[in-house]
Amino acid sequence: MNEKRAVVRAHANIALAKYWGKADIARNLPAVPSLSLTLENMRTTTEVWFSSELAADELVLGGKPQLGKPLARAAKLLSEVRALAGVDTFARVRSHNDFPTASGLASSASGFAALALAAVRALDLPVPVERVSALSRAASASAARSVFGGFVELGASAESAARVAPPEHWPLCMLVAVTSEVAKDTGSTDGMQHTASTSPYYPAWVADAPRLFTEVKAAVLAKDFARLAPAAEQSALAMHASMLAASPALIYFRPATLAVIEAVRAARRSGVAACFTIDAGPHVKVLVEPQHVAAMKRALSDVEGVLRVLESTPGPDAAQIAEFPE
Ligand code: DP6
Repeated sequence: MNEKRAVVRAHANIALAKYWGKADIARNLPAVPSLSLTLENMRTTTEVWFSSELAADELVLGGKPQLGKPLARAAKLLSEVRALAGVDTFARVRSHNDFPTASGLASSASGFAALALAAVRALDLPVPVERVSALSRAASASAARSVFGGFVELGASAESAARVAPPEHWPLCMLVAVTSEVAKDTGSTDGMQHTASTSPYYPAWVADAPRLFTEVKAAVLAKDFARLAPAAEQSALAMHASMLAASPALIYFRPATLAVIEAVRAARRSGVAACFTIDAGPHVKVLVEPQHVAAMKRALSDVEGVLRVLESTPGPDAAQIAEFPE
């Protein structure tokens, strides 16, 4: 083989029913079912270039060459794709996120979904999309969901994600109140392991998460915001409660995180259809019905500590594109 190349764009996703904890650490299978919304305006673009001229895999993220853990994680995924294709050629990977990375903004989800699909396409592997989702999931479980657009589920112990409804099913808007530009201290994988091994509330989280997932899924299918809001918020807060009870405590909240929660609750009291969710970082994601976007965005921008507010509609499947934007 001489040269093979593909460029893919994948979109970040935000879970409305959260994944936190592993049923199988070695295979990276999730302990609980999750359901997410893929976002139009938070994108990773990745080029994978397999070449017999390379002596090792290379990874450049946002223009910066990566070594250590990030390179090892990418190389592991590339090796799985190489094994499927029966080749041993190394690859050069270039990737760019158009949103802040590694601070709880789901960059690993769109990143590994883009990498898996680009590697598969570069090598012309005739594998179904479920297989691409499974390859992504082995690298980062939330990435399994970014292979699909719209509303997406990943079952407990599931190998791959599945679409619940397409993006046009429910034209909700996701506002992201960004409260920090710095990378978080504890990544999701380490945070989950720490929670599972030290938090007395972890078993309670795992026991109750399927109920919250079922409720979120039913609300999404019925497009019932009044039903979705309490279930989605409880899923996020129950997940964080399990982290708060870890030893030492895992606290991703910043003062601005709580201030945004307050702003969302106040807006809801005044009739705005909005609810919040929070991942392993200090930002708050606010799901809002289209007619209330402008009011909610203004309210979030006024909160002290909110640096900026990103806005996104439901986004599409990960897909190949012609060129890596220079
Ligand atoms: C809080 O998918 O990043 O965003 O599988 O260890 O890579 P690994 O974890 P990751 O965890 C995401 C956790 C979350 C909730 C969610 O997206 O469901």
